[in-house]
Amino acid sequence: MRFRPLRGNAPTSVTEPAPASDPPPAMRAVVFDDVGAPAVLHESTVPVPTPVLSELLVRIVAAGVNPIDAKTRSGAGVSAQLPSLPSTLGFDFSGVVVKAPYESHPLPPGTPVFGTVPFPRSGGTYAEYAVVPSLSVARKPTSLSHVEAAGVPLAALTAWGLVVETAHAHEGQRVLIHAGGGGVGHFAVQFAAYFGAHVTVTASGPNAAWLRELGASVVVDYRTTRFDEVIADVDVVIDLVGNVHGDTGTRSMKVLRPGGLYILVPTGSWPDFAAAAEAAGVRATSFKVIPDGGALATIARLLDSGAVQVYVDKVFDLSDAAAAHASVEEGHTRGKVVLRVSDD
Ligand SMILES: NC(=O)c1ccc[n+]([C@@H]2O[C@H](COP(=O)([O-])OP(=O)(O)OC[C@H]3O[C@@H](n4cnc5c(N)ncnc54)[C@H](OP(=O)(O)O)[C@@H]3O)[C@@H](O)[C@H]2O)c1
Repeated sequence: MRFRPLRGNAPTSVTEPAPASDPPPAMRAVVFDDVGAPAVLHESTVPVPTPVLSELLVRIVAAGVNPIDAKTRSGAGVSAQLPSLPSTLGFDFSGVVVKAPYESHPLPPGTPVFGTVPFPRSGGTYAEYAVVPSLSVARKPTSLSHVEAAGVPLAALTAWGLVVETAHAHEGQRVLIHAGGGGVGHFAVQFAAYFGAHVTVTASGPNAAWLRELGASVVVDYRTTRFDEVIADVDVVIDLVGNVHGDTGTRSMKVLRPGGLYILVPTGSWPDFAAAAEAAGVRATSFKVIPDGGALATIARLLDSGAVQVYVDKVFDLSDAAAAHASVEEGHTRGKVVLRVSDD
């Protein structure tokens, strides 16, 4: 168990933000004209988007790269929900406000912010500028660089939604998190431990020591050990793997206590999970991350207090977005992959 209090209620920024200059009419972006392999991603010059009244225009310094980006680029994921192609990918970012809805808006021009676009309706952060709903961003944690902060929003909001809002993590609760070493997993481990849960994770051996530092009590090496032979009676399984390449989801049913909760995260990876859960005598739900600037502000405080950390595994230049996707598609990222878009 690890229970570290939040420290301080001071505003995250004590200096007046610098005024931001007007954006140029056009910008550099990575777009794709058709779905396919990572090579479909290419640089282009596109118009800088115009915010509507409730939105901010932000200058993107760094963008997160998430598995949903690669799935969408390949024609799966949320590709059916995107506007027409060509389209710009990227659902989260860290950057600086350029335009705010009104003069006294709490996030005025010059404010460092991090957050999401209107996920999953449209992407847009693989670009020098993006328009974002003002309610889906928060002030960037002051202790993080933009590159570090860009690794946070989508993965940490997913972990928060799973651990806090769905599992209701609490003292003594026994939680199993599959893929604890990934982008979502490493935040989920820390949030669950922060709220006092007993955390077991599946991960490969090289990630074991690091995950224990983050708060895991037990690490099962999924490459050498079948987790369902060594774990039993957990209250909640947070399944970031599902039945995509194997039977992780099916075997998870066996390790839950009667009435325990199974949460399937990779969308569509196991259509019959509810029937399997009913047969096993456990509860089950899928999960979808929802943009939430308020939760992100709380997460920012946890990051600034040192209670939670982000681990950025690899950083690519915007022009190397295809290589970043290929890396994410290998499925063995520790923490996060980030694109550097522009200078701070
Ligand atoms: N529904 C939603 O709202 C939502 C939101 C976010 C993400 N997701 C989905 O959730 C999944 C996880 O996302 P992510 O961003 O955390 O992915 P990620 O960062 O790419 O995950 C990589 C991690 O997965 C681990 N892993 C791979 N196979 C494993 C296995 N069989 N058992 C245990 N660990 C395994 C790897 O561990 P090793 O390197 O140690 O092998 C690596 O650390 C993705 O499918 C993503 O699309 C869904």
